[in-house]
Amino acid sequence: MEINYRNKIVLAPMVRVGTLPFRLLAAQYGADITYGEEIIDHKLLKCGRHMNDVLGTIDVIEKGTNSVVFRTCPVERSRVVFQMGTSDAVRALKAAQMVCKDVAALDINMGCPKSFSISGGMGAALLTKPDLIHDILTTLKRNLDTPVTCKIRLLKSSQDTVELARRIEKTGVSALAVHGRKVADRPRDPAKWSEIADVVAALSVPVIANGDVFDYEDFERIKVATGASSVMVARGALWNASIFSPQGKLPWEDVKREYVRKSILWDNDLKSTKHTLKEMIMHYSCLELPEGKAVIKSESYADLARLYGEDKYHEHVNKQRLSRGSR
Ligand code: FNR
Repeated sequence: MEINYRNKIVLAPMVRVGTLPFRLLAAQYGADITYGEEIIDHKLLKCGRHMNDVLGTIDVIEKGTNSVVFRTCPVERSRVVFQMGTSDAVRALKAAQMVCKDVAALDINMGCPKSFSISGGMGAALLTKPDLIHDILTTLKRNLDTPVTCKIRLLKSSQDTVELARRIEKTGVSALAVHGRKVADRPRDPAKWSEIADVVAALSVPVIANGDVFDYEDFERIKVATGASSVMVARGALWNASIFSPQGKLPWEDVKREYVRKSILWDNDLKSTKHTLKEMIMHYSCLELPEGKAVIKSESYADLARLYGEDKYHEHVNKQRLSRGSR
């Protein structure tokens, strides 16, 4: 079924954060659509798709290294968006074919300002190449049944952004996410909601507004300010994933513990779990305090489980996994 992009609250793509446990956590608190972390097409092309019967997941695994590049499960099939980094239409299509049947939509990152992306002609480098954008999006649209979207940043002038957005709309994308910052802007610079509004006014396809949503009330504020159908949040969700809950945020301690439980359950990459926990701790506290130091020192899920009082749960999951694995 075609994913509906109207009136939705959305977990933004976040590298090393947006893996399966974090996406499920956001959804549990109320996120309607959850983006995965950006994965580069080159990497996907080195992978194979595997059913993981012990976890009940679909794993995309890098050949040779055995590292899980993308893990998903049927529960999130209708809301998970796979975000890809690319600079080439044919390569993007080949890579997308690996995952498109397992996800609700495919998104192309056209906003990443990091030198790794730019030097590879990906992310924000695409913003100055409208013909290439057209080529990538139409190639994906023509050859896949999966809905295709993209996420952009603002260009130098609002007029330029609107012109590009109109070209993108013509490719048949199902939605366009607009991060209300320019390529040179820093995360602490305020997002320019008025320039997102200019894009919304010019398009009929749903626009997902992104930038500076830190509380549940901000979802409504940015919608009113921009006229956008839907809203996407990154840092606000990273710091406390219960931002999606209409009842208000849950205590940060509870959210962290729930994240650890989900990471254990879905056997998340330990480095990625530690990275996400460190990001949470750096925002509310400090990595020099005992909790931060203990997270940094953790060498296994047993260590993290002990730290967060989830050792019983860890044991229980391990036992269940063993019995499933030996069946
Ligand atoms: C990001 N962002 C990002 N964007 C993207 O398109 N693909 C990605 O993989 C990432 N990775 C990422 C990691 C982390 C830790 C952060 C904080 C951000 C950008 C993100 O999706 C969003 O556009 C911006 O952070 C602005 O939204 P907020 O943070 O103001 O809600």
